[in-house]
Amino acid sequence: MADDKIKSLLSEDRHYAPPRHGKDIARIRSRHEYDALCELARTDNDSFWAERARGLLHWFKPWEKVQNCDFNVPRVEWFTGAHLNASYNCVDRHIITDRRNKAALIWQGEREMEVRCYTYQMLYTDVCRVAAALNALQIKKGDRVALYMPMVPELAVAMLACARIGAVHMNIFTGYADGGVLSRIQDSGARVVITADAVMRGGEPKPLKANLDRILGQCPSVEKVLVVNRANIEVNMLKGRDIWWQDLLDDFTLDADFPCVSMEANDPLFILHTSGSTGRPTGVVHSTGGYLTYAAHTTQWVFDVKDTDVHWCTADCGWITGHTYMIYGPLSLGATTIMFEGTPTWPRPDRFWRIVEKFRVNMLYTAPTVVRSLMRQGVEWTNHYDLSSLRILGSVGEPMNPEAWMWYHTYIGKGQLPIVDTWWQTETGGVMLSPLPYASHITPGSVTKPLPGIEACIMNTDGKEEEAESGGNLVIKKPWPGLMKGVHNNPEKFKSYFSTFKNCYLSGDGAKVDDKGNFWILGRMDDAINVSGHRISTAEIESVLVSHPAVGEAGVVPIPHEIKGEAIYAYVALQDNIEWTEDLRKELRNHVRSQIGALASPEQIQFVDELPKTLSGKILRRLLRKIASGDLLENLGDITTLARPDVLPVIITDRSRLAAGQPEKLIPKT
Ligand code: PRX
Repeated sequence: MADDKIKSLLSEDRHYAPPRHGKDIARIRSRHEYDALCELARTDNDSFWAERARGLLHWFKPWEKVQNCDFNVPRVEWFTGAHLNASYNCVDRHIITDRRNKAALIWQGEREMEVRCYTYQMLYTDVCRVAAALNALQIKKGDRVALYMPMVPELAVAMLACARIGAVHMNIFTGYADGGVLSRIQDSGARVVITADAVMRGGEPKPLKANLDRILGQCPSVEKVLVVNRANIEVNMLKGRDIWWQDLLDDFTLDADFPCVSMEANDPLFILHTSGSTGRPTGVVHSTGGYLTYAAHTTQWVFDVKDTDVHWCTADCGWITGHTYMIYGPLSLGATTIMFEGTPTWPRPDRFWRIVEKFRVNMLYTAPTVVRSLMRQGVEWTNHYDLSSLRILGSVGEPMNPEAWMWYHTYIGKGQLPIVDTWWQTETGGVMLSPLPYASHITPGSVTKPLPGIEACIMNTDGKEEEAESGGNLVIKKPWPGLMKGVHNNPEKFKSYFSTFKNCYLSGDGAKVDDKGNFWILGRMDDAINVSGHRISTAEIESVLVSHPAVGEAGVVPIPHEIKGEAIYAYVALQDNIEWTEDLRKELRNHVRSQIGALASPEQIQFVDELPKTLSGKILRRLLRKIASGDLLENLGDITTLARPDVLPVIITDRSRLAAGQPEKLIPKT
């Protein structure tokens, strides 16, 4: 971990006290209350979580044991023996209260005039119909349903309908290309895929169903495909397999009240794939009881959501943030949640601020990448709108650099609003480290402290807890209800999170704690790259690159990027007798784009004669990373383990040539 990075982070000495306005009615009102809650969770962890679970959710049957976790096995089990249903908690229980006609979901389409609003009652009706339709297709508890859908209300309905019948949903981000979609469907063994004809981007429909058609031949588990008509474009419908969503739901024989399946707390609610340190995506499995408790708990404490609030999480439901903070958290609390189909800058860079004004949004939760890109557009776009409804701002997915933090604070928060910089992961289910908006003193760039009930620390490679000020591995020492219950089809991968340090969950991130106990996230320690807040595995990109017939070997590393935080830099050694050409460079970039998705497309591909390797043949990515970021030979540190040190100067020279817009110099092979 770069010392200068740590130093520059810790030289940040601005502090912001929590706002006074709104404090009296906040959930957690002071540092004193925060400390007391931490103490309570420390002394009687089970009672702490039991109380939260009981207070936040409706359980059909109480638990026999609050937790039955053991990191050594590893086993993660919460609220053993209890029964509940996530759809019941997010919908049914609200329609027997005054919330019945309250807006549950407000959808803003890509075009300004396209808006749809679902009350809780309306959501109930649609969720029941889709649940009945899935049931009619013989989908049962435990079956997997893949959701490869744009950000339309039908996606929320589909998630809740799966939860209603106990089917396990597996969302696939629509930005993934064939390879990414294929590997996820194959890994999940989904029986049904729900998709749409297209996703709208920049006013144009981009086909989705056609993407599926190319790969479904390789997915024998898929029996039916439901297709939402989003864009009215022509699609091929395979007789006997493909069904229009609208046709299925129009069936008047479907039950208007479809009952919820009673789920044991540890029955899976969903699978969501994230990038691991291997080429294979990791299918993180979340439970029903623990996950939902944690989603509701953190939404209530971190965002201080009240009944009257309009909560807007700008993430896509293809990511965990959309699951927890657009769907399960806000809806289980009976709040109003916003779903936006478009992007922040189309057709103009005012979309976010327009939405805030239009729906009087109270909480805005977005990613630093978005803040940085909107910051570039200038403040005339923000000044034009009334943002006074905002009460809390949030950030997630990557480090928030102090410059972006200050812009967010000054121009969106008008210097008044708390910013909750929340650290968490797909695996953790919900926020782990974050300020509490009315209780924490905030320093830009720090995620402050673990939430009550979360015991985090920094460990060095020997498994010793680091003192304040030294960087190391961010680990969690105690189970919490949001922790994944397993990795689908891959118990070894699940074990790997708990095998490095005894009795600890290894996050894979580097971090540091300052002398005030505040945590600073320093980035991934493993082979993952964080592009615009999305975790992508270097191994996955490398394996796609080497799957191209021209490629012999590839080494992929992150480089700093002004907007995206990190970007992808790929070193490629071609097969013998293959020429380095610009066409091939383009082809390789397209190859990655078509196999994984645009997100994984390398910013730069550098051809190399040979990758720097140890004598045992291990690629030294540490060196590649430094070179890609512009470091010269004298800054590379120890290179004595290299089998062929002479490859380095050539790679360094070529990197500079590429940075200056010239191609690499072709060196005859030795
Ligand atoms: O490296 C951390 C970074 O995002 C990773 C988790 O990625 P993913 O599972 O895709 O989930 C993203 C949304 C929760 C982490 O290991 N990360 C997340 N939040 C922050 C962060 N890095 C710095 N600051 C954060 N607030």
